[in-house]
Amino acid sequence: MDTQTIRTLEQQALGYVPPGPVFHTVDEVAKRLKPEDPVQCIFPDSVRGQAQKFTSLFPGAVLYAVKCNPGPEFLRHMYAAGVRHFDVASLEEVRLVRGLFKNAHMHFMHPVKSREAIRIAYKMGVRTFSLDTAAELIKILEETNSAKDLKLFIRLAVSGNAAAYDLSGKFGAAPSSAANLLRHARKVAHKVGVCFHVGSQCMDPAAYRAAIERASAVIAKAKIKIDVLDVGGGFPATYPGMTPPPLESYMDAVIAAAQPMVEQGVELWCEPGRAMVAAGASMLVRVNLRKGRRLYINDGTYGSLFDAGALNWRYPVRLVRPLVKTGKDSNDPNSRAPSEKMVQFSFYGPTCDNLDKMKGPFLLPEDTQEGDWIEIGMLGAYGAAMQTRFNGFHASIAATVWPEAPPFIFDRAASRQAPAAALKESTALTPNLNAESPTVAVK
Ligand SMILES: Cc1ncc(COP(=O)(O)O)c(C=O)c1O
Repeated sequence: MDTQTIRTLEQQALGYVPPGPVFHTVDEVAKRLKPEDPVQCIFPDSVRGQAQKFTSLFPGAVLYAVKCNPGPEFLRHMYAAGVRHFDVASLEEVRLVRGLFKNAHMHFMHPVKSREAIRIAYKMGVRTFSLDTAAELIKILEETNSAKDLKLFIRLAVSGNAAAYDLSGKFGAAPSSAANLLRHARKVAHKVGVCFHVGSQCMDPAAYRAAIERASAVIAKAKIKIDVLDVGGGFPATYPGMTPPPLESYMDAVIAAAQPMVEQGVELWCEPGRAMVAAGASMLVRVNLRKGRRLYINDGTYGSLFDAGALNWRYPVRLVRPLVKTGKDSNDPNSRAPSEKMVQFSFYGPTCDNLDKMKGPFLLPEDTQEGDWIEIGMLGAYGAAMQTRFNGFHASIAATVWPEAPPFIFDRAASRQAPAAALKESTALTPNLNAESPTVAVK
């Protein structure tokens, strides 16, 4: 089969034109690109599979939280999986989503916005705004000329105790002020809702039940009817040392607690980020130096590994040594079969900053060394999205990996979209297909 036929088959099976070559495995990315800089390896089947799972389980509108991973490829996968609602936090995200999808519904769920952001977002079709103060309500009304088609959501303060990443310290109105805001909003808005966030990576479905009960009490106190209950984000992914109950348990908790409201005609919404995309990407990083059990790698706390550094989250890791010459005792240590003995390492990032270290521990072969690549998994959520350019380091290369997904991705999407068997056999690569994304040169 020639390269053009393979490319056409890949595009048909993927349903879109990927931004650059399609690689069959992450090892192939390392082998062909020999990348000196970190590469975000994206798994389309995983992203789409998880989005489909979420939309089929949740009994209402699913708003993908763009901040979690605003990569256009991810957004396109969401759209292809049927997601039409997007939770946007900034004007930049509004522009990004509108630029990609003319008919997408955007919801500005950040409770504090600039006046300019409110004004321009409204002009660009945004009607949903969240708030947790009277001052923000006034801003929204002033900047939209008291539009009659607003959907206003009062963000309620709820506990973040069950979450690995507590978000309760910044936003959310206390019950009595939330009840007041609801009454005001009911007078001026076309639709009124209550929203909350139980914290990211919420490990206990009961947190949603408690938050919904709190919302019900506030609505009863306000003595108004609401149109929408938005249970926010917080749905978890599986990381080493953090195995949450299955997604179905969270859905059951939401459905049971919201039942009385739903029976009265209230719509349900949610704003998942992490659970939708965490398994959808790995970072392929390279070891620049080894000092004992410390590996100095080319990505770090100021790159895609903020949570590994600041929060000590462990991510699944795997040595990628694709140039192994079997049967030969090569002089090149990166070409030898890796040691079978696994030992604990910590990672140090590329900047000169002292905070740029990731304790781990990360379990890798004992002979991991300079020149080796490491695949760090479960970085589709809050990975590439949080990169800075500190010290001049920035990972801008992305590679589409399909149809394989790495073996350590715990919640790999079950759905494989029947790729042509012949594609698996081929080692040929497609040329760059889309000039809009960073290009990768195949060496
Ligand atoms: C308003 C809002 N909605 C949704 C999310 C997504 O949360 P998660 O990634 O935990 O699902 C966030 C994350 O910060 C948020 O601030």
